Amino acid sequence: MPSEFSIRAATAEDAPTLAALNLACWRETYEGLLPAETFAALTLEERLDHWRGAFQSSGSRVALAFDVDGAAVGFTHWRAHEFVLGGRLGRGGEICAVYLRRAVQRRGLGRRMMRQMAREMRASGCKWASLVVLRDNLPARRFYEALGGRRFGRELSWRGVPQIAYGWRDVAGLAAHQ
Ligand SMILES: CC(C)(COP(=O)(O)OP(=O)(O)OC[C@H]1O[C@@H](n2cnc3c(N)ncnc32)[C@H](O)[C@@H]1OP(=O)(O)O)[C@@H](O)C(=O)NCCC(=O)NCCS
Repeated sequence: MPSEFSIRAATAEDAPTLAALNLACWRETYEGLLPAETFAALTLEERLDHWRGAFQSSGSRVALAFDVDGAAVGFTHWRAHEFVLGGRLGRGGEICAVYLRRAVQRRGLGRRMMRQMAREMRASGCKWASLVVLRDNLPARRFYEALGGRRFGRELSWRGVPQIAYGWRDVAGLAAHQ
């Protein structure tokens, strides 16, 4: 059965679309989770700067999802992270963002976009994947746990808001997740 959503790689030309979509998703997600002044300070200009910068720095992989009418309804962003451990070079995928408009949530699109990111990570030689999520964003945490993500590390803080990390030791498992 054909999917009701299409997904494609985003390019620098998509920065205005991403900025507007990003802001709309943040407003739907973070009201009540972020301090009121932080929430009120979210702007389109800042998001536009962010996305223009993301496409200028090498290694950002961004995808956009569209509904049947061509409206942008979701996006993902990841980049490779390299480090040396015990004299060996390790490479993992850092998931920077996965956001869908509320109207299209719980229809399997998030799972599909995570799977696609994991496949890209595998193809680029990443062994593991990780991300940071607000501790109190419980729906997102349940989603990552349903996809096999495991909490690791200590609690972090972003502008006083608690954050925690989730990871997948073997990105191949996420790439194959049904
Ligand atoms: C989190 C998000 C990406 C999940 O995508 P989605 O398309 O809604 O989720 P899926 O339909 O693919 O769900 C896959 C599984 O995850 C779990 N899950 C997803 N959303 C859940 C929720 N709100 N509560 C509990 N479990 C949930 C379920 O096990 C689900 O399987 P099921 O529907 O068969 O029960 C999406 O809901 C979203 O964009 N939320 C707002 C933004 C956000 O919080 N992003 C993360 C920031 S770190």
